Amino acid sequence: MAKYRIAWMPGDGIGVDVMEAAHIVLDALNLDAEYIPAEIGWEFWCQAGDPLPQRTIDILKTCTCGLFGAITSKPKDEAAHELAPELKNKGLTYHSPIVGLRQLFDLYTNLRPCKAYPGNPLNYRDDIDLVIFRENTEGLYSGVEFHPLPDDLRASLTQFNPRMARFDDVPGDEIAISLRVITKTGAQRIIRQAFEYARKYDYPTVTLVEKPNVLRETSGLMTREARAVAAEYPEIELWETNIDAQMMWLLKNPNDYGVIVTSNMFGDIVSDLSAQLVGGLGFASSGNIGDHFAVFEPTHGSAPKYAGQYKVNPTAMLLATKLMLDWLGETKLAQTLEAAIAAVIAEGTVRTYDTGGDSSTIDVAHAVVSRL
Ligand code: NAI
Ligand code: MG
Repeated sequence: MAKYRIAWMPGDGIGVDVMEAAHIVLDALNLDAEYIPAEIGWEFWCQAGDPLPQRTIDILKTCTCGLFGAITSKPKDEAAHELAPELKNKGLTYHSPIVGLRQLFDLYTNLRPCKAYPGNPLNYRDDIDLVIFRENTEGLYSGVEFHPLPDDLRASLTQFNPRMARFDDVPGDEIAISLRVITKTGAQRIIRQAFEYARKYDYPTVTLVEKPNVLRETSGLMTREARAVAAEYPEIELWETNIDAQMMWLLKNPNDYGVIVTSNMFGDIVSDLSAQLVGGLGFASSGNIGDHFAVFEPTHGSAPKYAGQYKVNPTAMLLATKLMLDWLGETKLAQTLEAAIAAVIAEGTVRTYDTGGDSSTIDVAHAVVSRL
C-alpha cells in the first residue's frame, strides 16, 4: 500500500491541463502515493445539481490530503439556468465547491506564498519573499448576510447600538448587511500558524494587517490575540499595520515584509496584490490547511478560453504541489521540486505565453522533470 492517498481533483477547464503537468512531475519524483480521482465542478452541478458530490466527500475522508486544479463558478441565476432540464425549478442553489470544502473540512488556513523566482520577466522585483496567512473560514466571508433587512433584526441592532438609528429612515429592501464575524479561536489559530511558520523558516517578523482604529471590535480582537500569541515567540517581532497603508508599502518596499497574517477579506486582497508582484496567476499557489486535512491548489480559476489547449502556465500548480510535499513532511522532495522550477524559470528557454514564450503546459512539466 502506498504511504499517501491523495485525492485527485482536476475540476474544470485548465484545471485538467495543469493537473496533468503535476502528475508528470509527481511521477518523476517517485512520491510514494496513490492518486484517487475525485469528481468536482461545473459538470456535476449541471448534470446532478451538486458540484461537490457526496461520493467525493466520502473519498476525501479516506485521503491524506487533496490536490485540486480549478473550478468554473457562476452567479446564482446563471447557474440555475444551466441545470439539466429535469433539475430546473427544484429549488437547487449553486454553492462554490471549493468554499464548501474549506468549510466542511475546517481548512482554516489559506497559505499563499508569493516568492519572486529570479528570471521571471513578470517579477515586480527579484527580492520578494512574502508568505500570506489568510483566515479562510470566517470574517467578512462568513456568509452571514441580510437583504432585505428584517424589522426584528433592525430593532435589535438599534437597541444594542445607537449608531444604527442613523439608518432608521431607510426601507428594509434598500439596505444590505454583511457581518464580519471574528472569533477568538479563529483569530488565535490563524495567528499561531503564521508564527509557527515564521519560526520554522526563520522569518524575523510577522506582520498583522488589520484596521483596528476603525474596525474597533473585530480588528481589535485580532490585534489582542496577535499580541498574546507573539509573546510566546520572543525571537519573532510582531508588526501591526493597517490594510490601506500596507497596500502602499507592499508596492514601495515589498522586501521589508516576510510573513503576513490577516482576516479573510483583507487576506484575499493582500494575497492577490502580492501574487501580482511575483508574476500573477501563472505563479500563485495556495494551500487550504486544517488540523488534519489540506487541499492544495493554484489560485487561478478554470480560464475557459484556454481549456484543453495546454497553453497555460503550470508553475502555480507545480508550486501548489511543492506546498503539498512540504505539508506531507517530504521536505527533501519539496526542495528538489522548488529548485527545479526555479532553474527552469532562471534559464527562461521554456516559457508559456504569459511570460512571452510559446511552450506548452506539458513542455514546462518536462523541463521541470529534466532538472529534478
Ligand atoms: P481565471 O483565473 O480562470 O483566468 C483569468 C485569466 O488569467 C485567464 O483568462 C488567463 O488569461 C489568465 N490565467 C489564469 N491562469 C493562468 C495560468 N495558469 N497561466 C497563464 N495565464 C493564466 O479567472 P476568471 O476568468 O475570472 O474565471 C474563470 C472561471 O474560474 C470562473 O468560472 C470563476 O468563477 C472560476 N474561478 C475559480 C477559482 C478556483 O477554482 N479556485 C478561482 C478563480 C476563479
Ligand atoms: Mg481572490
